[in-house]
Amino acid sequence: MGPNAAYLGLMSHDPLVERARGAALAAYSPYSRFSVGCAIESVDGEVAVGANMENACYRLGVCAEIAALTAAQQAFGLDKVKRIAVAGGHVAEGQLAGEGVVTPCGGCRQAIFEAACLSGTDIEVVSANGGGDQVNSTGIYELLPNGFGPESLKDAG
Ligand code: THU
Repeated sequence: MGPNAAYLGLMSHDPLVERARGAALAAYSPYSRFSVGCAIESVDGEVAVGANMENACYRLGVCAEIAALTAAQQAFGLDKVKRIAVAGGHVAEGQLAGEGVVTPCGGCRQAIFEAACLSGTDIEVVSANGGGDQVNSTGIYELLPNGFGPESLKDAG
C-alpha cells in the first residue's frame, strides 16, 4: 500500500478493516444492496470473517457480525476475541465503496457483548465506511452500556 492510498480513499491502513472490506464482497445482499463485511481478530492474531446473508423472507437475514462471530467461535472461540472490524457499502467495480461508517446494529452489539463477557475484555470495535478511508474505533462497553450478559442471569433458578 502506497503512502497516498488513504488520501485517495482506496483503502485503510488497518489490515483488519481490509479483511472486513474483502469479506463484504462475498455478502449475499440482493434485497438491501448493502454489503457488510466483518473481520474478527483473536488474541493470538487469528482472523475469522463473515458477511451479511439476506433471504427472500426478509426477516431471516443475518448480519455480517453474527456470521463472523459464528466463524470465530469455530476457529478460536468467542473467549479469545480481541478486535472486530465492520465495513459496509455497495460493491462497485469489484471493490466495496461508500462514504458512511457502519456501526454494528443493536442486536450485533448484544452478540459482541456476550463475547466480551467471556473474554473479560472491552472488545475494540472498528467501524469503517465502504471505501475504508473513514474509520472510528469504540469499545463495546461504550457501544452497549449496561448490557445484559451471562452475569445478568445469576438469579435464575
Ligand atoms: N447489516 C449488517 O450486516 N450488520 C449491521 O450491523 C447492520 C446491518 C446488514 C443487514 C442487512 O442485510 C443490510 O445490512 C441492510 O440493513
